Amino acid sequence: MTKRLNLSGQLEISRLVYGMWRVADDSDTSPAHVQAKIEACLDQGITTIDQADIYGDYGAEAVMGAALKAAPGLRDRLEIVTKCDIIAPIGKYSERRVKYYDTSAAHVTAAVEASLANMATDRIDLLLIHRPDPLMDHHDTGAALDALVASGKVRAVGVSNFKLNDWTLLQSAMKTPLCTNQVEASVLHSAPFIDGDIAWMQERGIHPMAWSPLGGGSLFGAEGAKVRAVLERVGAEQGVDTTAVAVAWLLAHPVGIAPVMGTNNLDRIRAISDAERVQIDRETWFEILTAARGQEVP
Ligand SMILES: NC(=O)c1ccc[n+]([C@@H]2O[C@H](COP(=O)([O-])OP(=O)(O)OC[C@H]3O[C@@H](n4cnc5c(N)ncnc54)[C@H](OP(=O)(O)O)[C@@H]3O)[C@@H](O)[C@H]2O)c1
Repeated sequence: MTKRLNLSGQLEISRLVYGMWRVADDSDTSPAHVQAKIEACLDQGITTIDQADIYGDYGAEAVMGAALKAAPGLRDRLEIVTKCDIIAPIGKYSERRVKYYDTSAAHVTAAVEASLANMATDRIDLLLIHRPDPLMDHHDTGAALDALVASGKVRAVGVSNFKLNDWTLLQSAMKTPLCTNQVEASVLHSAPFIDGDIAWMQERGIHPMAWSPLGGGSLFGAEGAKVRAVLERVGAEQGVDTTAVAVAWLLAHPVGIAPVMGTNNLDRIRAISDAERVQIDRETWFEILTAARGQEVP
């Protein structure tokens, strides 16, 4: 069973998180099948589901909402994460001329109302600002986030893809502590471990969430071939799947990462969940890093 992770005293989530970016890409989007995916997660102790208003051309939240409506009681067993601020010329915004970000209080507040309705729920456990917005008025955005928490519609707030400066700017205008930063990190995207992006979170006791922990599937293509050989060997030694080793590599970092897996395959949900019983010692961690980068550390 996956462990729990306390996000800055604001919210407890499961250490492994299930992401629904791809839920609408599945050939089966029926409430029964989505419910089966959620139940497969719950069987592993994965109680935290990651969403965003934009997923599935602004349709993924409603796909999940239909499943929650069909299974009363299911919602109360979950922590629901969702995100807002990306406006792309698709789905309900198809008339827009260009993709852009909107962190205005009016947009963030309206986006939360839409997400609540789409997911047939009265609260969002964790709301993330999806991407840093160069036009963010931090007082306006911060006040909106504080008000959403005060209203009870949102239990905790965080950000995604933020650099340190974006974080400190927004936090400076808020009463509520930001509790996480969801960033890309994997064996194929190891830069954050080297360039300081993980270091500032570690210094502040922030547990990041890691999106695309399997490189969005590219671990299984040409790009992943060299590191896959090492992951396969470690997996064979410890009796787990390659995917579990890739996720365990993230779990081994002392910052305390919550990887967000995105498979639509029920068997893979189970296989990836073995990550928490994989042992990655320091030498193996660097062996995986070296294979992924194609060169040893300096
Ligand atoms: N905050 C952000 O900006 C942001 C950006 C991107 C994603 N996210 C979040 O992160 C979540 C995970 O992202 P992700 O879906 O890219 O994660 P991922 O777990 O790295 O990749 C999932 C993809 O890998 C494939 N895959 C997994 N195991 C495989 C195997 N053994 N062989 C071949 N293919 C395999 C899956 O296909 P199958 O379905 O066939 O298993 C799926 O297409 C998303 O759902 C979303 O919640 C956040």
